[in-house]
Amino acid sequence: MTRSVPSQPFSGQKPGTSGLRKKVKVFQQEGYAENFVQAVFDVVERAPGSTLVLGGDGRYHNRTVIQQAIRIAAANGYGKVLVGQGGILSTPAASNVIRKFGASGGLILSASHNPGGPDEDFGIKYNIANGGPAPEAVTEAIYARTQTIDRWLTVDTPDVDLDTPGSSQVGDLVVEVIDSVADYAELMESLFDFNAIRANVEAGFTMAFDAMSAVTGPYATEILERRLGFAEGTVRNGVPLEDFGGHHPDPNMVHAHELFETMFGADAPDFGAASDGDGDRNLIVGRNRFVTPSDSLAILAANAHLAPGYAAGLKGIARSMPTSAAADRVAEALGLRCFETPTGWKFFGNLLDAGMATICGEESAGTGSDHVREKDGLWAVLLWLNILAVRKISVDQLAREHWAKFGRNYYARHDYEALPTEKADVLMAELTESLAALPGKAFGSLEIAEADNFSYHDPVDGSTSSNQGVRVMFAGGSRVVFRLSGTGTEGATLRVYLERYEPVGGDLDRETPDMLADLIAAADEIAGITRHTGRTVPDVVT
Ligand code: G1P
Ligand code: ZN
Repeated sequence: MTRSVPSQPFSGQKPGTSGLRKKVKVFQQEGYAENFVQAVFDVVERAPGSTLVLGGDGRYHNRTVIQQAIRIAAANGYGKVLVGQGGILSTPAASNVIRKFGASGGLILSASHNPGGPDEDFGIKYNIANGGPAPEAVTEAIYARTQTIDRWLTVDTPDVDLDTPGSSQVGDLVVEVIDSVADYAELMESLFDFNAIRANVEAGFTMAFDAMSAVTGPYATEILERRLGFAEGTVRNGVPLEDFGGHHPDPNMVHAHELFETMFGADAPDFGAASDGDGDRNLIVGRNRFVTPSDSLAILAANAHLAPGYAAGLKGIARSMPTSAAADRVAEALGLRCFETPTGWKFFGNLLDAGMATICGEESAGTGSDHVREKDGLWAVLLWLNILAVRKISVDQLAREHWAKFGRNYYARHDYEALPTEKADVLMAELTESLAALPGKAFGSLEIAEADNFSYHDPVDGSTSSNQGVRVMFAGGSRVVFRLSGTGTEGATLRVYLERYEPVGGDLDRETPDMLADLIAAADEIAGITRHTGRTVPDVVT
């Protein structure tokens, strides 16, 4: 009953960090999603009869593509599809299911923190058997296949019931609808001291978790409210909605401002957190204390041994290049290796697989460990809860204690969005050309020590990734990084990462904008942001 549908090469996507991401309207074109899914199945490693994991963040069009993918999987010789109930699987939960059940890979339907709805974004990413995002060689091969594809295979069959757990048959394919949360919750219980967290909650510890009407709602409700005993209502916006309630499911000061208002208001709970559309990002905010993702990585790494899953210590720490160097200081103090990788989670996969790193993180609110091969929002929240329960101190106290010991990396990212691509390219090209002349130049009290265009040599597979962003390093450990986003959907986005290091004994209790003012001015002078783009202020500051 397999049917071959003639098709044509189509505008797939140059490999980026996040699979194929386009407007819903693009995915709704006849055969578009099918062509892409077929291109994936044509090139990825999978033995006949393999298992495929399938699920998404519940955004608009999720169920449609799940039904399409099931038919195409049946026609392509898969033996089994494990699909999350209601089509729901967070990105870290999907990574876990792939690993736990030995699947050859998985399709995760999400456009992460981008808005959802009929006029918004959709995405398909493929993860390989280790549970991590497809590496560059695989995404390149998928892209190449989209340029030559001439047919996709499908079977004619009614839609599968996605809402009732259990197995059904589509041709020779077994489709098993699994509980979206259970395997993930079990993994979390194996890593963290739920008894200690529960005891802390009983002693009066409170929190607010904003699921942003996205995928983590069911996970957070089960784990935080049912298993850890936090009061009902601790999880806000806990029901996944197809349009995320009209908001961007992006856990930052702009889109999660209600949580910030709660945490900086009277009667703030002890701890605040949020996650993004597909559940891989996290936001950590204490009462009157925002913790930058870079600091969160460093603080988690320094205290991870307090959680049972990490009691034996860490094998190493990895951070993406634009992430602040706060974690490097922790690694140094613990005698661990610290890796600086290009932006994007996939570069951590090799290090985790090789047992060279245990904890990884990115400044863009992604933190995770070797428990899966994706960043994991709720994991970060639970590690924080575990540490606070054992230490019995506040987020603010823990942060201050950390800075007193390691110094403080004041940090912010400025994004200039929807720039004409050509202007952004010229800016980066001129900046790259000017690098050799930069060392020695001074901007007020800041003197450039080194400047380069970041290249990464993967210590595991020997590959080199160049052109990963411009680093301008100042004497004393401060830094500005410039790079163009690889995930934007409109024009180009310039990201400027600003980092000012204050050593132990320095100014550790100042406001971030004050501490970064000199660097912001220097960044504009160095890259000519206003000159090239006409912009005088960033669109988003995180
Ligand atoms: C952004 C983040 C990056 C993250 C990626 C996928 O990529 O900066 O850290 O890995 O989204 O979530 P960018 O748009 O900067 O290329
Ligand atoms: Zn995400």
